[in-house]
Amino acid sequence: MAVKILMVCLGNICRSPLAEGILQSKLPKDKFIVDSAGTGDWHVGQLPDKRSIAIAKKYGIDITNQVAQHFKVIHFENFDHIYTMDMSNYKNVLNLAPNEKAKSKVKLILNELFPGENVDVPDPYYGGEDGFENVFQMLDEVCEVIAKKLT
Ligand code: 4NP
Repeated sequence: MAVKILMVCLGNICRSPLAEGILQSKLPKDKFIVDSAGTGDWHVGQLPDKRSIAIAKKYGIDITNQVAQHFKVIHFENFDHIYTMDMSNYKNVLNLAPNEKAKSKVKLILNELFPGENVDVPDPYYGGEDGFENVFQMLDEVCEVIAKKLT
């Protein structure tokens, strides 16, 4: 059975689609399923933000097949690892966890790179293009660590 990983942010249009595409690019497709979701539902059904699509494309990753979805309690059952982009997403997801097993699946993503430091992937939505470059680099670094750990 494939190992299933879910990336979670607020809108599921900027950070978690990048995290999904980047981690997917580092893992064998037959053994891992990577998906993403948002704790907010405003963008459900939409493509990733143009700026996320552009930065991913710059580094050879196509995320135009993605469609935004809302994080739901069923995701605790369907995924083995749930990585949240910031402390607010982390708390919101944890609050929906039905039991201890579900809680144990939830991690703040950058703690894989900086254990225990609780560093957020900053929300780039209201900023400029450089925010997306910064987010891409952070996610690329941490996804390298996650991919090594899981393979
Ligand atoms: P994301 O960024 O959580 O990285 O997808 C955001 C996208 C949309 C909104 C906030 C953050 N929004 O408020 O619509």
